Amino acid sequence: MSSALLIEDLVKRFATGKPAVDGVSFDVPAGEIVVLLGPSGCGKTTTLRCVAGLEHPTGGRISIGGRVVSEPERGVLISPRERDIGMVFQSYAVWPHMTVYQNVAYPLKHRRNGGGDIAAKVRDTLELVGLGDYAERPVTSLSGGQMQRVALARSLVYRPQLLLLDEPLSNLDAKLRIRLRDELRRILKQTGMTGLYVTHDQSEAVVLGDRIGVMREGKLLQMAPPDEIYNRPADPFVANFTGASNVLLGKVLGRSGDKATIDLGAAGRIEAWTPHQLSTGDKARVALRAENVRLGESGPTNVFSGRVIERRYQGMQTVYDVEFGGQRLEALELGTAARHETNREISLTLPPDQCWAYRDEGQAAVD
Ligand SMILES: Nc1ncnc2c1ncn2[C@@H]1O[C@H](COP(=O)(O)OP(=O)(O)OP(=O)(O)O)[C@@H](O)[C@H]1O
Ligand SMILES: [Mg+2]
Repeated sequence: MSSALLIEDLVKRFATGKPAVDGVSFDVPAGEIVVLLGPSGCGKTTTLRCVAGLEHPTGGRISIGGRVVSEPERGVLISPRERDIGMVFQSYAVWPHMTVYQNVAYPLKHRRNGGGDIAAKVRDTLELVGLGDYAERPVTSLSGGQMQRVALARSLVYRPQLLLLDEPLSNLDAKLRIRLRDELRRILKQTGMTGLYVTHDQSEAVVLGDRIGVMREGKLLQMAPPDEIYNRPADPFVANFTGASNVLLGKVLGRSGDKATIDLGAAGRIEAWTPHQLSTGDKARVALRAENVRLGESGPTNVFSGRVIERRYQGMQTVYDVEFGGQRLEALELGTAARHETNREISLTLPPDQCWAYRDEGQAAVD
């Protein structure tokens, strides 16, 4: 039976620089997959390695299945091999001199709790990862994607309490990555595995995660289900990192509940959802996704009149640069037809629910 992971106020400081992990707390209930998402260097791998026991944390507490495995303040540090975890990394960590079968059987033969019918367990696990017909093949004769399936099978075969995956798909070509991503979710759900998965790829995070934790500079900014990360980003960095590339700058006119009215200067005023305690007069930045701009439409609120400056036809979609009242944004429309002409007046609607206002702390663009 899978068991939960609890991380409380985890800190990891290396000899130099800022802490790599800076007060991170979250939990993974049994059977859930949590994805840590963030740019290079934000502390994802370090967090994972602390959970694995490969890195010694500076502070905080990590518990696996209710058992404290690391708590430096009390001198607790359980070794990696006693944590009952499985790990899959970016590089294909398989034993090159063995067959597929031998690779997957290896952990069962070398574990006290391995036991039972090893052959049946290996066979079932190879079926699960789609390698049922490859058991006797030398592992070096496999493709990258197949090797990664072997690595996954090897971590799943002994049913660890917790599976840790660090960018396991990033060495695969784009098409295979998408296929294995979808399959990985099925496999993990089918086994009821508890997983902590690390990636900088938002599409992987969305497909795989029951919840996504967005990290930046060692801090966890938001932990929520994918649709909440995408529709209610709690922080401008979360909005930007998950693809809300448009930013409109203005000043707060007023706030009511979780809605704020922002003065965009010559462009007029805009209504937006906000997670921040904005006050009248505050500088604000309004973020929204290019996909949520409705070109050529006049909705009930947030209707503006603009002009298409540039149009970039991309086959399956078209991106438009639109200017209105001194503000500029990108709009994206799906479909193989480019519907709007350049240099014509066009109305646009920015649905208030999909516009998110944040306090503008003078931060530079975050991408
Ligand atoms: N052994 C180490 N010694 C010193 N600094 C380290 C060490 N390992 C990681 N760091 C630093 O800690 C920070 C976080 O690194 P980490 O590998 O956790 O990032 P990441 O989010 O996994 O990035 P990526 O997406 O590139 O894999 C970085 O600034 C990195 O340089
Ligand atoms: Mg990493």
